[in-house]
Amino acid sequence: MTDSKHILQTRLGSVELLNPVIPASGTFGFGEEMAKQYDLNCLGAISFKGTTREARYGNPLPRIAECGNYGMINAVGLQNPGIEEVLLNQLPMLERLYGGPIIANVSGFSIEDYQYVCQRLDDRERVRIIEVNISCPNVHNGGMAFGTTAEAAAEVTRAVRKVTTKPIYIKLSPNVTDIVSIARACVEAGADGLCLINTVLGMRIDIRRRQPVIANRYGGYSGKGIFPIALRMVNQVAVALNGQVPIIGCGGIETAEDVVEMMMAGASAVEIGAANLHNPMVCPYIIERLPILLKELKIEKIEDIIGCC
Ligand SMILES: Cc1cc2nc3c(=O)[nH]c(=O)nc-3n(C[C@H](O)[C@H](O)[C@H](O)COP(=O)(O)O)c2cc1C
Repeated sequence: MTDSKHILQTRLGSVELLNPVIPASGTFGFGEEMAKQYDLNCLGAISFKGTTREARYGNPLPRIAECGNYGMINAVGLQNPGIEEVLLNQLPMLERLYGGPIIANVSGFSIEDYQYVCQRLDDRERVRIIEVNISCPNVHNGGMAFGTTAEAAAEVTRAVRKVTTKPIYIKLSPNVTDIVSIARACVEAGADGLCLINTVLGMRIDIRRRQPVIANRYGGYSGKGIFPIALRMVNQVAVALNGQVPIIGCGGIETAEDVVEMMMAGASAVEIGAANLHNPMVCPYIIERLPILLKELKIEKIEDIIGCC
């Protein structure tokens, strides 16, 4: 029988992870609040808040709409302190709180923005992967605009490939008709891996006020309700790419069972987003529960199940 320490080990290319559980960008800040709840060193990796060239205050309020047990809609709009402040204070703080692999989530409004932020991160040793978000539905003239055609997705990938030696993972949007062609275009343009999915475009209406709940009208739907969509898209891409690059599966994951399902669909690791917001202990809970579940399922090592479906 495999040593219990190794049961959960997985890898994203050359980056080794203690376990496949990663808090998703935008739901974990730079770790400071969560570190008051638990020791972050139990996590497989951490993806920090989407960072842009300049600081951003985000969208007008209200920018969150609850959707009962199914999840939530957000239109935060990439609120972040900007790359210089991240390099000066936020990243060093995260590095003090956490000794494992850091994933830098990057966003932009032009190709040059993406290049600038990636270049600024290039010499930061503890950043092991750059996750390029081309899928934010909550900002105009940027974010998702790059993620909805294969040509634009490839252009961003090629551009960031030129300015950094770090592994580049492109974070894909589900708001497309053909996810496989976009995934393929990114890999052909030099992506080392993919992360999918970001939020699904959604809306809620306040029936008493006859107004959209979210000031921005539409937002990104995340949480439990999107799990089957995320699973289907991860599987479509995994089958089409046949192991060419590792995939981080994301969307609606809340339990150890969901992690196993997502890895069977083709993910080498998973990101957990909205679930952190209603249960800050969800990640350590899943990490504790996973070995028990694997034993029940007679799985010796979690890596053995990747893409088995
Ligand atoms: C409040 C909030 C903020 C988010 N901010 C970002 C971000 O800055 N960059 C990014 O790539 N994804 C962002 N996301 C998307 C998540 O990382 C994740 O892809 C998505 O929520 C689906 O996963 P989930 O269903 O587990 O939440 C955000 C999600 C939420 C709920």
